[in-house]
Amino acid sequence: MRIGLLTGGGDCAGLNATIRAVVRVAIARGDEVIGFHHGWRGVVEGDASPLNYAQTRGLLQTGGTILRTAGFHPEEHEDGASAVLATVARERLDALIVIGGDGTLGSARHLANLGVPIVGIAKTIDNDVSGIHRCIGFDTAVATAAEAIDRIETTGESHDRLMVVGVMGRTVGWLAVCAGIAAGADALCLPELPTDFDKLAAAIMRRHDAGSTSSVVVVAEGALDGAFLNQREGAASEHVCEELGRRTGYETRGTVLGHIQRGGSPVASDRLLATRCGVAAVEAAHSGAFSTLVSISDDNSTLVALDVVAAGARPVPQALLAVARSLSVC
Ligand code: F6P
Repeated sequence: MRIGLLTGGGDCAGLNATIRAVVRVAIARGDEVIGFHHGWRGVVEGDASPLNYAQTRGLLQTGGTILRTAGFHPEEHEDGASAVLATVARERLDALIVIGGDGTLGSARHLANLGVPIVGIAKTIDNDVSGIHRCIGFDTAVATAAEAIDRIETTGESHDRLMVVGVMGRTVGWLAVCAGIAAGADALCLPELPTDFDKLAAAIMRRHDAGSTSSVVVVAEGALDGAFLNQREGAASEHVCEELGRRTGYETRGTVLGHIQRGGSPVASDRLLATRCGVAAVEAAHSGAFSTLVSISDDNSTLVALDVVAAGARPVPQALLAVARSLSVC
């Protein structure tokens, strides 16, 4: 088989581990793998090169993507989709494995409907691809954000400060909820729940009246009804910092974690997930199971229809929100 491979959208930890698994398993089966550069743009422009075994050495632990990435959607460009079809024919591709988040996989769905033989793999630190239990990169982002919040907490304690931490997550609060629980944040501002500054400030002041001298508030990018999404990253958390500082009178400091959450070496669970996804995607290609997305659970690997991505962002389950609410002010 000739298998095309691309990484699209925002990068995250675990992309190189996925590439490694696809290339190694495919080569072991006698396939050729062609890597497209900068996501769908590379397919439209025919910017590709073969991937060999030697290129996969040392990839398991590395951040980023050796294929590079871009938020490019062929269907939004004149003749973009037909350019993809032309590349698939010219490169004699039997399958195209697409590693991406909702945007890249949305384009994959569009192109699969035009006949491109696609198997998708879900990655994003937002963990919000519909129909998928866990997206590659999420566990690493949670670990990174939780460690950063731990560090912010100790400096906050030393100075008796109110610390506000901005984390990524535009439409759903997966990262804020999971990192917040893991780091024991005192309060969370989430896209899923309205934030009432008076109530939040009162709850923080009650904590301090009861003996705490510092607090940590974690704010998702899309909190406050997404009111700050069109501004620079961190605008929502800066607003929370100002509002709480004014209402409580406490000394406040804000930190926006930003792209630290996307970079660096994947944690072991992301390496495992990435490897399982890569292996499952090559198997799916050999079975002719196209227009699908690989879905991995603890003991199983299944394929779901690529159409699931049309359902939009996967919400944080109520049960997980309930855990967050039972330990933090939300
Ligand atoms: O979708 C992943 C993500 O990291 C979001 O959490 C964030 O809002 C966005 O990408 C940032 O994208 P960029 O790197 O293009 O600023």
